Amino acid sequence: MDEISRRGFLKVAGGATLATTMGGSLAAGARDPATAAGVPARARSGGQRRRYAIVGTGIRGSTMWGSSVLSRYGDAVELVGLCDVNRKRAEVVQARLKTAAPIFTDLDAMLAQARPELLAVTTVDATHADCIVRGLAAGTDVITEKPMVTDELQCQRVLDAARQGERRLMVGFNYRFARKHRQIKELLLAGAIGRITSVDFHWYLDVYHGADYFRRWHRLRSRSGSLLVHKSTHHFDLINWWLDAAPVEVVAFGDLKVYGRNGPFRHAQCRGCPHAADCRFFWDISKDRGLTQLYVDCEGEDGYRRDGCVFREDVDTFDTMNVTARYSNGVQMSYSLNAAMPFEGYRLAFNGTEGRLEVRDHERQPWKPDAPTEIWLTRNFGQREVVAVETVTGGHGGGDELLLDQVFGAAPGAADMPPWLRLPTVRDGALSCLTGIAARRSADERRVVRIDELVRGL
Ligand SMILES: NC(=O)c1ccc[n+]([C@@H]2O[C@H](COP(=O)([O-])OP(=O)(O)OC[C@H]3O[C@@H](n4cnc5c(N)ncnc54)[C@H](O)[C@@H]3O)[C@@H](O)[C@H]2O)c1
Repeated sequence: MDEISRRGFLKVAGGATLATTMGGSLAAGARDPATAAGVPARARSGGQRRRYAIVGTGIRGSTMWGSSVLSRYGDAVELVGLCDVNRKRAEVVQARLKTAAPIFTDLDAMLAQARPELLAVTTVDATHADCIVRGLAAGTDVITEKPMVTDELQCQRVLDAARQGERRLMVGFNYRFARKHRQIKELLLAGAIGRITSVDFHWYLDVYHGADYFRRWHRLRSRSGSLLVHKSTHHFDLINWWLDAAPVEVVAFGDLKVYGRNGPFRHAQCRGCPHAADCRFFWDISKDRGLTQLYVDCEGEDGYRRDGCVFREDVDTFDTMNVTARYSNGVQMSYSLNAAMPFEGYRLAFNGTEGRLEVRDHERQPWKPDAPTEIWLTRNFGQREVVAVETVTGGHGGGDELLLDQVFGAAPGAADMPPWLRLPTVRDGALSCLTGIAARRSADERRVVRIDELVRGL
């Protein structure tokens, strides 16, 4: 943070109060670990590298948990196995990563033969729980992509397995680590708006990114748990973390209003579609060589079409969702997720006893916003102040890199992380998923759903 924006930030956040609350770490001039991008990891003493394996070699497994890990932490990590039910895709990724790590199509075989110390779970959402439980049972630490689980039975299984075993389970909530999101947390901790009473949180997925969920396996609840789980788990985790509270009860509505059966026509996939010239959602995957290699060239193995039609009749996840939740500290939240919008980003506001903190995040829109993220603080009976937002490069607002630093223990300054910025735990993974699972059930059953009716022993 440069000096001018730091001064502005401290002024808005309340200076001394902030530094005290933060234990002096980020606010008192310490180097922000997120800016340590590209700093190589250190191997363990003796030069021994941590044995690391990946299950699920799709786009996320091969990039964030593949190439990024190897380029940033190559001297601390040894890739010992790649596992995917689609062998051909794993072979594409093996070649991309220029690794000799063996390929497996069976996770248990990889765990037994490759003996990883750390397993990254980056498979289709509904299979995470099974991979996590197997990894923990084999004595491996596990970092799982979100969502940790897609239903309450899986959630109970993972909670029990994590508590019984000795191995560590971490959840890859990269959004927490984005600089802008940490800055919001710092403002709330500093008491910028007094005691929080309610939250307005509205997330917009546009007709490009939002539509892409309906081309892929995400369109099916049986694979993704619905967008209320797959996507909203990020948002519900942020809320739990910002509020330092747990969800208690949830009520929701959900509908499919644009994609699936709403379409005027349909075909299996965009390639060869007779409606290509008339369809605003037509997408030609063959123009992207990387995705063609990763998906189209591997279709023979499992029949999965990456460019599936957004109007297929089997789409059973919602594209329009509204959720109201109440939290353990009494805060109420009004949340929505819409997946066919003309712009991408979110609008967020914390209402407090002493003011309101508003955030507008602009991911992609057909106009030029003043800044990628805008934050305003308005105190009761006072003026509106602009909060300077630090712009950080990197995946998901710098969150990807800082998350990796936490997982691989390599960031200079990682030890200085404030206590509120620790790696998300199994409880965090569960609470965020359960909010979405409760919302999905509430929309289906038209009733208020309590979190404690879903699992035991949270
Ligand atoms: N945190 C983030 O910002 C972020 C971003 C993108 C994706 N993700 C998550 O990463 C995960 C992967 O997403 P993706 O976009 O890479 O999907 P993808 O479809 O590209 O890859 C998933 C891979 O898992 C494989 N697979 C499915 N079931 C399996 C099983 N039981 N065992 C082994 N392999 C299996 C598939 O063949 C495929 O190669 C998802 O859980 C998604 O939610 C997170």
